Amino acid sequence: MAVVSQCVSTAEKVRHHIKWLGHLVQWWLLPAWSLSAVQSWPQAQQTVPFIPVTTRQLPDVNQSYAGIIADGSSFSLNGDNVSYRFHVDNSTGDLISDHFGGSVLGDIPTEVTGAVNGWVNTIGRVRREFPDQGRGDFRQPAIRIRQSEGYTVSDLRYQSYTVKQGKPSLPSLPATFGSEDEVSTLIVHLYDNYSSVAADLSYSIFPKHNAIVRSANITNHGKGNITIESLASMSVDFPYEDLDMISLRGDWAREAHRERRRVEYGTQGFGSTTGYSSHLHNPFLAVMDPSSTESSGEVWGFSFVYSGSFSVDVEKGSQGLTRALVGLNPSQLSWSLGPGESLNSPECVAVYSENGVGGMSRSLHNLYRKNLIKSKFAMADRPALLNSWEGLGSTFNESTISQLAKESAALGIKLFVLDDGWFGDKYPRTSDDAGLGDWIPNPRRFPDGLPHVVDSITSLKAANTSTNLRFGLWFEPEMVNPNSSLYHEHPEWALHAGSYPRTETRNQLVLNVALPEVQDFIIDSVSNILNSSDITYVKWDNNRGIHEMPSSSTDHEYMLGLYRVFDVLTTRFPEVLWEGCASGGGRFDPGVLQYFPQIWTSDDTDAVERITIQMGTSLAYPPSAMGAHLSAVPNQQTGRTLPVDFRGHVAMMGGSFGLELDPAEIPESDKAALPGLIELAEKVNPIILSGDMYRLSLPEESNWPAVLFISEDAKQAVLFYFQINPNINSAIPWVKMQGLDPKATYSVDGNATYTGSVLMKIGLQFPIATDYGSKVVFLEKQ
Ligand SMILES: *[C@@H]1O[C@H](CO)[C@@H](O)[C@H](O)[C@H]1NC(C)=O
Ligand SMILES: *[C@@H]1O[C@H](CO)[C@@H](O)[C@H](O)[C@H]1NC(C)=O
Ligand SMILES: *[C@@H]1O[C@H](CO)[C@@H](O)[C@H](O)[C@H]1NC(C)=O
Ligand SMILES: *[C@@H]1O[C@H](CO)[C@@H](O)[C@H](O)[C@H]1NC(C)=O
Ligand SMILES: *[C@@H]1O[C@H](CO)[C@@H](O)[C@H](O)[C@H]1NC(C)=O
Ligand SMILES: *[C@@H]1O[C@H](CO)[C@@H](O)[C@H](O)[C@H]1NC(C)=O
Ligand SMILES: *[C@@H]1O[C@H](CO)[C@@H](O)[C@H](O)[C@H]1NC(C)=O
Ligand SMILES: *[C@@H]1O[C@H](CO)[C@@H](O)[C@H](O)[C@H]1NC(C)=O
Ligand SMILES: *[C@@H]1O[C@H](CO)[C@@H](O)[C@H](O)[C@H]1NC(C)=O
Ligand SMILES: *[C@@H]1O[C@H](CO)[C@@H](O)[C@H](O)[C@H]1NC(C)=O
Ligand SMILES: *[C@@H]1O[C@H](CO)[C@@H](O)[C@H](O)[C@H]1NC(C)=O
Repeated sequence: MAVVSQCVSTAEKVRHHIKWLGHLVQWWLLPAWSLSAVQSWPQAQQTVPFIPVTTRQLPDVNQSYAGIIADGSSFSLNGDNVSYRFHVDNSTGDLISDHFGGSVLGDIPTEVTGAVNGWVNTIGRVRREFPDQGRGDFRQPAIRIRQSEGYTVSDLRYQSYTVKQGKPSLPSLPATFGSEDEVSTLIVHLYDNYSSVAADLSYSIFPKHNAIVRSANITNHGKGNITIESLASMSVDFPYEDLDMISLRGDWAREAHRERRRVEYGTQGFGSTTGYSSHLHNPFLAVMDPSSTESSGEVWGFSFVYSGSFSVDVEKGSQGLTRALVGLNPSQLSWSLGPGESLNSPECVAVYSENGVGGMSRSLHNLYRKNLIKSKFAMADRPALLNSWEGLGSTFNESTISQLAKESAALGIKLFVLDDGWFGDKYPRTSDDAGLGDWIPNPRRFPDGLPHVVDSITSLKAANTSTNLRFGLWFEPEMVNPNSSLYHEHPEWALHAGSYPRTETRNQLVLNVALPEVQDFIIDSVSNILNSSDITYVKWDNNRGIHEMPSSSTDHEYMLGLYRVFDVLTTRFPEVLWEGCASGGGRFDPGVLQYFPQIWTSDDTDAVERITIQMGTSLAYPPSAMGAHLSAVPNQQTGRTLPVDFRGHVAMMGGSFGLELDPAEIPESDKAALPGLIELAEKVNPIILSGDMYRLSLPEESNWPAVLFISEDAKQAVLFYFQINPNINSAIPWVKMQGLDPKATYSVDGNATYTGSVLMKIGLQFPIATDYGSKVVFLEKQ
């Protein structure tokens, strides 16, 4: 990454123009006052005098690259529709936030703090970029360091900065990436003179996605050991205003329920202490103007690129400013740094939208599809699959599996996935109390070996095609059953804390993936199976949280180890389509998406529940990343019976469509519908994978949830429309589209044509006679 030391000529021209405008506006203003002038007013001041308007100038550029202007005093990051600006308070060396929001040009007014009385000093009344602790800012800090002497005061002051084209990778951590045309990076160097601790803040801007990505690199240049006790990747101080926030909460089989609430005085937050990102709360936060909606108003989205425990805190302070912190969970972090050592935080993505929550989601979707997911399958058509789990569970043998594969092929399925139960020799995996850790095919279930089964299944042709069936396999490599050869050989590999009992969940323990020997064991076990035959899909499951940990740094060390495992395996087997899973969506996060292009969204396959779960998940994650299956009825989780079309239509809104059933066990009429649904899923798949998603109405608010996907070239669109309860003797609602070209005309399902303006301002009606009705409608630009 080249350090750019010369001005880019066009940027300079723009700047001169802006500067000239700035002078015009400035001529009548008083001379520029600095914040220090405000600070020097006497403490006991009771009345606020006339406060002159001062301006904070646009950086006097001496380092610049597309999107970044900086001069060592002020910093400006600019995207198509976003500006992010901050400056150095030259009397304190503190970084002060000026603006994160809509695109602005030119000089901006300096924020006035007003009289400073009472216990809270100026430092506690301003908007800070990277708040440290112990010097009078009583809000939650972005960083807390226990210095070698024991105290937790720090004093990080501005030192210097660098601007780079492109974006350096983060060692050992997943991170967004991009070419030198797509992203540029500002690194601001802070230093604490008293403890000799350095903090480098990295800000990358993806101008086209209105996204700013931040991480922090803390280095101990002192002589003693220090401990990092908290470290937020993103810290944003919003001005004095009312705000709402959205989080995604849930539990097993109930992921990603959207929760919107007012930001109140004090701290409100959420997070995970489970060792993984978890079903309980997703590492995602949206902050918005209280009047913002799905399609209008200002929204800020924060998405943490990490798969372990995390915390999000939103604190409205006494002065009315709101601080949002997103980072590693301090309750699971106590990271020792010896002399010369560094800790890199994971990164947090922040996007700004002036088109409501939907605009925020589309920015994240685009960024993640193009600049986060490394797999070559990120936007490639996904094969319709059949997973054996809900059909056969863990009770099967070679002939029942082969039969299921044949039935799948006859329906037009392209990928057959063998789920749990295929492994274990001395401790065969015939139920969930044995076998995890012993990654060898069960010789009694597969007397001729697994490769034999794979060969016979991959020689089947999907119905009426020349396409051979692909074969996929389930793994849960981070786990071990005490009933396993692995545990008997290596009890020390399971996470434990001294002689405290090793608490089992689902009869299993968690391997300490922080240990290099455990990482190598997992890499070798999975490689051996994948090398043994033509396996082109892996479902990587993870079915419990972490309890007993040997130390407070284990949580993060585990993640670094896991990322090494993911990196080695996905690099070694690039032809494999990897799917993440953790009892459903227990680890649905951007960290996993770096390596795996799709994740199983939920173990709840009830299609009504799935509308809420998939729409919630889509707040932060592209639909291309969601695995969604049509399962048998009554549904295994809810007992509900839904029409097969409804189940199919909900599942095909996910990038990876599949079946989760035994075709031999379902009613003939349902079975007859499957080939048509598979064909329809394959038809919509390219639009789902790379198109823009518009949530037209939400399941929490409407009996008629609806989603529109518009293809990347804007020529095609597909509408999914659902009716949950019957609609007796009421008028038929109109569904208004979004995101179309108002002047263009579109054909609706190949017959009637309307302009985009009619479709968006008036809409279409879809009378549905029953409950649980659904429609899939194609729009084609003429
Ligand atoms: C601080 O910056 C202001 C302008 O923002 C300038 O007037 C003042 O001289 C600076 N003070 C120092 C000590 O550099
Ligand atoms: C950029 O500006 C800063 C602050 O004015 C100054 O300290 C630095 O030397 C300048 N760098 C270059 C390359 O001109
Ligand atoms: C940016 O703003 C322009 C003009 O308002 C608008 O047309 C465009 O859709 C916006 N882009 C994004 C990504 O929001
Ligand atoms: C830090 O210490 C150095 C050397 O002791 C001194 O030159 C510098 O001014 C100090 N910086 C601050 C911000 O106190
Ligand atoms: C973090 O800072 C240290 C010390 O400056 C440096 O050696 C290391 O390369 C930095 N890490 C990253 C990812 O920039
Ligand atoms: C720092 O920590 C290391 C490892 O725990 C220990 O060996 C060393 O003695 C410590 N140094 C100091 C100055 O406390
Ligand atoms: C496989 O399982 C089926 C169903 O339980 C049974 O009928 C069949 O005999 C078994 N086949 C073998 C080879 O064990
Ligand atoms: C395959 O073609 C046959 C004959 O046209 C047809 O009956 C059958 O339904 C087709 N199967 C699928 C899955 O499309
Ligand atoms: C081991 O398996 C046996 C039966 O296969 C079961 O009864 C026992 O509970 C299992 N033990 C553990 C520790 O899970
Ligand atoms: C599996 O094959 C890959 C190359 O395809 C090789 O790099 C790796 O070492 C093999 N691993 C094992 C355990 O055989
Ligand atoms: C459009 O045409 C399809 C058949 O191509 C038909 O089923 C549908 O009812 C027609 N819709 C309208 C609104 O005319």
